[in-house]
This record gives sequence, structure tokens and C-alpha cells, in this order.
Amino acid sequence: MLKIIVFLFPAFLYGAPDLYKVGKNLYFAKGCSGCHGISASGTNQYPALAYRRKPFLISKLKDYRAKKGPTQQSQLMIPFAMGLNDKEIEALTTFLSEFNENKSTYKSDLSNRGDGGS
Ligand code: HEC
Repeated sequence: MLKIIVFLFPAFLYGAPDLYKVGKNLYFAKGCSGCHGISASGTNQYPALAYRRKPFLISKLKDYRAKKGPTQQSQLMIPFAMGLNDKEIEALTTFLSEFNENKSTYKSDLSNRGDGGS
């Protein structure tokens, strides 16, 4: 709960770019938002990522990076994980697990599919 309150403070209170912000930028720069949605809440075909446990997200991304995935759908995910280094995974999973964005600047995923990465 305390964490949520802290993240409600305006962004300008943060000095140097923190891991959360780096992860947020990567989430869009690396195209993750194109499938998982700009608010990381997933769709019918793509799992939600926001608020998931960080160790889970890290281990999934490292598995995909090593070309390991449990389903045929994993094949979609593997090329995107292969482009990530450990620091980027750390930043991305920080952003996703702590996900705290102003709902008013994040619209429904369905109306924004495919447009998040640009
Ligand atoms: C082309 C669409 C696509 C893109 C782009 C994509 N993903 Fe995925 N992602 C998927 C699919 C499909 C799955 C489910 C794969 C499976 O069943 O193993 C998945 C699964 C995941 C999972 C595991 C979630 C779970 O519940 O098992 C994580 C974590 C993840 N993606 C993170 C990312 C990140 C971070 C990026 C950007 C670097 C990204 N994805 C980009 C399609 C995509």
C-alpha cells in the first residue's frame, strides 16, 4: 500500500531516471505494448503483465530468451525476449510488477491495439 502512495507522487519529484521509468520506456521501445497492451493488462491472446510478481516475470523472460517456452504461443514471445539484456529485464520487470500509471492517460487496450509501440 505504501508503495502505491509513493508512486502517486508526480514524476517531477524523481531526479535521475529510475529503474521504473527506464522499464516503462523499454516497454514501449521494445514493442511489448504492441501485444500486451499499453497498460500491460493483456488481451485474449496475450497475458497480462502488470502487477505480476517480479521473480515470475524475470524467470519467464530469461526462459524465453533461452528459447524455452511452454506453449506454441511462446514462439511469438521468444524473439522479443532475445533482444533483452539482464539490465533491461530488471528494468522492465520493475515497471511491470510495480505498475502504477494514471488511468486517465491509459486507455483501454482494445481501442489501442497495435498503436502502443509507435
Ligand atoms: C508478438 C507479440 C508479443 C510481443 C511483442 C511481446 N510479447 Fe510477451 N508474450 C506474448 C505471448 C503470445 C505470450 C504467451 C507465451 C506463452 O504461452 O508462453 C507472452 C508472454 C510473456 C510473458 C510471460 C507471461 C505469463 O503469464 O506467462 C512475459 C513476462 C512477457 N511476455 C513479457 C514481454 C515483454 C517484456 C515484451 C517486450 C520486450 C513482450 N513480452 C513482447 C506475445 C508478445
